[in-house]
Order: sequence, then C-alpha cells, then structure tokens
Amino acid sequence: MGIFKFNTLVCALSLLSLFNLNFVESSHHVFLHLQSKSKHVVDVKQQGRTAYHFQPPKHWINDPNGPMYFNGIYHLFYQYNPKGAVWGNIVWAHSVSKDLINWHALEPAIFPSKPFDQFGCWSGSATVLPGNKPVILYTGIVDSNDTQVQNFAVPANLSDPFLRHWIKPDSNPLIVADDFVNKTAFRDPTTAWMTPDGHWRITIGGRRKHRGMSFLYRSRDFFRWTKAKHPLHSMAATGNWECPDFFPVSTDAAVGLDTSAIGPKVKHVFKVSLDLTRYEYYTIGTYDLESDRYVPDKDTIDGWKGLRFDYGNFYASKSFFDPSKNRRILWGWANESDSTDKDVEKGWAGIQLIPRTIVLDPSGKQLLQWPIEELESLRAENMELGNFELEQGEKVEIEQITAAQADVEVTFSFDSLDKAEPFNETWDRHDAEKICREKKSTVGGGLGPFGLATLASKKLEEFTPVFFRIFKDKDKHLVLMCSDASMSSIEEDKTKMVNGKDAYRPSFGGFVYVDLTDMKISLRSLIDNSVVESFAAGGKTVITSRVYPTMALYGDAHLYAFNNGTETVQIESLSAWSMDKPNHMNQELKD
Ligand code: FRU
Repeated sequence: MGIFKFNTLVCALSLLSLFNLNFVESSHHVFLHLQSKSKHVVDVKQQGRTAYHFQPPKHWINDPNGPMYFNGIYHLFYQYNPKGAVWGNIVWAHSVSKDLINWHALEPAIFPSKPFDQFGCWSGSATVLPGNKPVILYTGIVDSNDTQVQNFAVPANLSDPFLRHWIKPDSNPLIVADDFVNKTAFRDPTTAWMTPDGHWRITIGGRRKHRGMSFLYRSRDFFRWTKAKHPLHSMAATGNWECPDFFPVSTDAAVGLDTSAIGPKVKHVFKVSLDLTRYEYYTIGTYDLESDRYVPDKDTIDGWKGLRFDYGNFYASKSFFDPSKNRRILWGWANESDSTDKDVEKGWAGIQLIPRTIVLDPSGKQLLQWPIEELESLRAENMELGNFELEQGEKVEIEQITAAQADVEVTFSFDSLDKAEPFNETWDRHDAEKICREKKSTVGGGLGPFGLATLASKKLEEFTPVFFRIFKDKDKHLVLMCSDASMSSIEEDKTKMVNGKDAYRPSFGGFVYVDLTDMKISLRSLIDNSVVESFAAGGKTVITSRVYPTMALYGDAHLYAFNNGTETVQIESLSAWSMDKPNHMNQELKD
C-alpha cells in the first residue's frame, strides 16, 4: 500500500468512482522496465520544458521537501529519481539559491544507505533549531512492504554555506509506528513547532481505516519523541493523509509567521494532500493549546470539498517561514498531464511551481497567494493596454511579448451585473470543475466568459483559456474561474491508460469569493511553455494547468484577451511581460 504516482486527476476520478463501491487505497507502482529504458535516453526532449520554473535537467521529480532559509541561502530538496522519468529510486535532490529564482544543483543530500532508509527516502521537512542548527526529518522506508519510519539528518559541516553533506546518525530511526498506527501509511513529518511549554511538536500523515489522520508527537529535546494519545487532527472518510502542513497566520498583518508563533492575533492553517483524490484541501482554525488539537473554524468545510491552495495540478505542497523577508512561502509540485510513455520519451517529468507568498485574506476565511516578488526580476519586454472595450465575441491579441513565456496581469471591469446568468440550482456549489466542463470558454454567456486565451495558436486551433463567468445566485453573485486544458493541443487525446497514466486535459475550476461592488476582477497568469498558473482577485483562487501544445510553441504561441458574454467588458488595465530565463537552473545536477 502506498502511493501510485501518475496523472494527478485521472487518478482522482477513477479512484473516486472506486470509492463509491469500495474504499480502495492506491498502491506503489514501480516501473522497472521503464526505468531501465529511460536510462538510455540520451536526448532530453526540450519541447514542453519550462523556462523559469524549477526543473532539474532530466528525470522524475515529485514533492518539494525541507524548504528552508539558512544563513542567506534558500534550500530546496525534492523527491527525485536519479535513474528515470518515472517514480522510483527516490532520493532527496538538493538545490540552493539566493533569490528563489536562480538555482544551483548539488549532489543529492539524502539517499538510501542505511537499514532505516534502504528502501527509500521519502518526504519530510526542515526545522532550524535554536542556536541556528538545521535538522531534517524525513520518512525512511525500511523494507519491501513499505514500512515507514521517521528519521533525522543533520549537516555534516555547518560552516559549508551550501550544507552540501548531511549525516544520518545511527541513532535513527527517531520514530517508529506503534501498534495503533498503520506502518505503511505513516509519513511526511512536518516542520516542528515549539509550544509555550518549551516542548517540540510535529505532525505526521496517515490514516486509521478510512479516517485521515495527522498524528501528533511531542519532544523536549527534539530527539526523543512521544506520540500524543490523540491526533492533531483527523477526518472521517478522507482516506490516507499525505504531506500534512500546519502553520500559523497573522490575523492583523500581511506578514508570515514563524512556525512556532502563537497568540491572540494568530490563526492556524491545516492542509493535507489526499492520497485518494490526489488533490489537497485546507482549513483555517485555532490551535487549542490546552487540548493540543487543531480545531477548524465553524462553518468551514473539512473534507474533500474544502478550500484548496490550487484547484488544478498542484500536490504535496509545503510551506516554510522566510525570516529574511518575514513571509511564509508555499511550494507545490505539478506532475505532467501527459502519458507515462511521453514522460519516458521526454526523459523528464514534474516541475515545482513558482513559490507563493501566503497570507490570511482580510475576511479571515481563506488564504491569499501571490507569486514571490523575486519573480518580477525576470520580467523583460513589456506591453500595456488600458481602457480597451471587448464586446461580445471580440478578442484582442497581446503582442510584442513572448507569449509562450510570459507574466500577464489584467483587470477586467464591467458596468453592470444585470446580465449575469442565473446559477442553475442543480449545480453543486462545491464542484466548480463540473460547471467548467459544461460551460467552456466558447459557450456564450451573459457576464462572461471573459479572460485570457493563453498558449494559443494564431487561429485558436489550440489554446488554454483562463476565464471568469459570473452567475446570479439567490442573494449574491457567484464568480466561477476556469482553466481549461481541453483545447490545449490538437494532438489526439488519449483515452486509454498507457502504462498506468493517460493524457489528461481537464477543465479545472474554482469559485472566487470576491466582492463585486466595484465591478471588476483581476487575473494574473504565469505562462511557461507547458504550464499556466493563474491567480484570480489578488490570489483568492489559484488554478494551475499543465498543457502540451504542438502548434502554439515558442514564437508561434499567442496570447489573447477575449469576451464571449453579451455584457461588454473593459480591459481596465493590462500589463504583460516576456519572461527571461534565470541564469542558472540546476545545470550541475549529476546522476
Ligand atoms: C506525496 C508522497 C508522499 C511520500 C512521497 C514519496 O506525493 O506520496 O506521501 O513521502 O510522495 O515520493
């Protein structure tokens, strides 16, 4: 039992349907044949590779691990297969950066070598202990049954600015599952936080039968850990919880907080990655020190239909506190959306998305996410547009920038909400994706669909629209955001599973809980060859799509703004930039 790494949401759909019949956990899939095949890949295919997202030169990557800021350097570790473009042989690859944009690859920091991790070094986190001493906690796989334990590693030489080498002391494992814990669903320790009693806490993902669990462990010295009788949090019928994240947010300032912060102006966020659905959800709530439990706020949805950091291709995310800029940064992984065969042919799979600064929305009901400010250093040629009217059926091309590799910010405004279509009572208010599947960008509406057609071929044979559609609900308006990959490539869509994963072109959707009294809504899209990350209304709703155009490539890609609603929409302002490639992107990574 364990994980099955393949296309994020095909898997979600098939597993969800299985769920109705029977609660089936996904299992490991080791692609031995494919791995040996991909060893012979000499040419890594460039088509579809991103320019300014984090990617190693080749092979498979998944979860970001142990992100931290230490002595002026950002460290990013991540799950990496040094032998192929499919999941397997997992080590902790390691890259360092001074700005979160230019990355230098180092040798893998943690790899299987000891009895307590000889079958794998899975996800985990970093904690900087008092005295400025970093420690990594990670999950070791000890046998071929996927038995999971928690280990620690420390830098071999604290005066090496890059912390290249890590030692895994023989006192490992630190934590083994007790008889009440399922040993094959016991992984991904979080960054530790210290409570006012001076003791450390961590939480570890798992499940008890079908109940998702985040086990709580306590320690005085960080090295002897005791399991609390109760979990930090759990939820019935959510299946195995992977990669939990638990962190404080400030209620009165748009800043990030150290993971141990607590007090009257602090709320907590709890996030899990759902093994069954392959998406994540989070809640906002209170960390009750007395009961040592996390309690989600009343009226929040704690389950599959809850809030997501990203309503698209985004998984196994992890946040960290950056003390140099007083911010909390979120990293998420995006898998490929094409077939496993294609991954092997390309010689690579997976990217890390642009790190996002996260703060609590002033409503207190959700988070706001925004690409880290350093990204703006890559902005090059610029195009501006203002006060431009888009009548029904009109589109305008955003020229003079490299549309395949761009950052675009646009604010749309309108004079009235009168033409908003009525919200169909039979629709589920928590299933935006279903409405996006029905109401594509080409299906005319009242107020919307309007938005951007990204990665578009000249005549729109291929395009990935990111757009809004505004509905009139009972006593308010509902804003739907869609990022639709269904027209992204003229290549025939694969419907049959190829080696466990088929090409997947979903029409992702999320609602945007935005106040429309000022009659406007903003959208920012980061477009990078095979990825489009879009942020609505200042980061209230975010959707990431992975797409593989065959015509809308490099110089042949175009970017349009469009309106297919009867209500005229203004582009109040639009700024678009070509994006430069960072000077360094992990070139030095060796096998
Ligand atoms: C999430 C995950 C983690 C695990 C790691 C293994 O994608 O399944 O639970 O530690 O990947 O690579």
